[in-house]
Amino acid sequence: MVLETGALPADVLVAGRRVVALAAHGAVQAGSARVIDATGALVLPGGVDVHTHVGIQFGDFRTRDDFTSATRAAAFGGTTSILEFAFPEPGETPETALRKRIGEASSRAWIDFGFHAAIAREADAAALADIETAARMGAPSVKVFTAYRGIMMLELGDVLAVMSAAARARCLVMVHAETESLVERATAELRRQGCAHARHHALARPPMAELDAARSVLELARVSAATVYLVHVTLPEVAGEISAARALGVRAYGETCPHYLLLDESVYERQQPERYVCSPPLRPATSARALWRRLGAELMGVHSDHCCFDGAQKAVYAGDSALVPPGLPGVETRIPLMVSEALRGRIPMTQVVRLCASEPARLFGMPSKGSLLPGMDADLVVIDPAARGHVSSLHMETDYSPFDGMELRGRVDTVVAAGTVLLQGGAWCGVQPAGRFIRRRRLQAA
Ligand code: URP
Ligand code: ZN
Ligand code: ZN
Repeated sequence: MVLETGALPADVLVAGRRVVALAAHGAVQAGSARVIDATGALVLPGGVDVHTHVGIQFGDFRTRDDFTSATRAAAFGGTTSILEFAFPEPGETPETALRKRIGEASSRAWIDFGFHAAIAREADAAALADIETAARMGAPSVKVFTAYRGIMMLELGDVLAVMSAAARARCLVMVHAETESLVERATAELRRQGCAHARHHALARPPMAELDAARSVLELARVSAATVYLVHVTLPEVAGEISAARALGVRAYGETCPHYLLLDESVYERQQPERYVCSPPLRPATSARALWRRLGAELMGVHSDHCCFDGAQKAVYAGDSALVPPGLPGVETRIPLMVSEALRGRIPMTQVVRLCASEPARLFGMPSKGSLLPGMDADLVVIDPAARGHVSSLHMETDYSPFDGMELRGRVDTVVAAGTVLLQGGAWCGVQPAGRFIRRRRLQAA
């Protein structure tokens, strides 16, 4: 069994939804209990993915999945909890959006799920009041965007108002940090030069846009005493800004995603470069390599930013990357890729547990997730470390993965979600979706 603190040989005893004891191997008679023999395997806490986009509309496009297909794919990939977003549509309050999204997931999800509230386009008084309401409903985090004008973007004044309200409600503020005007200027220039195609996507959303927005947002967090979490960080320089903000007393965190660690901007030279269009874009290989050194420091999590568009949707506007629906499918590949890197020796397996399960459970207020100690939810994933394979035959509702063909060490063999075996020996055995809403706790007082 691998926990964030170390590995130990143990039998994990489960009753109902919970881990009830750890015992020396064979010390407890199984009796009539179901036994899963994990001899020679690694048993990890189930993955916690705090950044997924299931069944969302983005401009003209809707992701292909829903809570049933996305959570099934997640389980195939060793993830047993997801945190989703409730983006309000125009005219909708954050609270209404949250209630709607909880309804969408309930009785459809195979694994436990929670939500982040979100404030889009404008932070009026009613929206700000909904931060407290969302926290009372068990969603003590709120997402804002400094990018995607007209769709999601908030002006910095509104971001500050959100941060102040979130600080009062002890909610985490998650920020997509890219300065829209810099993205717009770069995009306009590329169009003028006839270089709007997806193969130039890395130029359309330049590093300075991410760095500039990160600096502003961290300063707003300092002024408002908010706890801030920068999503999908792609640059070591942004991690450096998080470090500098922390030195000033800001409670600041970041996450990155497998694609920013394992891919780089050279993918835009491949066939079908639109399949790699995401915001922010993939960066130079030097940035990707440097991000690894920030893991476990400023970057406390590796999450998928799962966005399940298929190849046809991505191709519609391949000639103009600003119009390609942004985001990459990845809820199923996150744990296998990170485990594979650990088995290659790039990071310790304990660090994978920490980044992909334990730390997000702590930061996002899920005390029964992210560990296998007695009393925790029985969310566990059994990895066969000797298996070798490639990224292929996935279960996400799309026809490609940005990691297609990548060599993998290890294989997700068995997955138990809240005491229910969903996967055994690589074969699906779930009978009925029974994932529950995760009512999360607010941030601890500073
Ligand atoms: O390109 C991305 N990241 N798409 C998903 C939406 C977001 O910005 O997180
Ligand atoms: Zn984003
Ligand atoms: Zn996202």
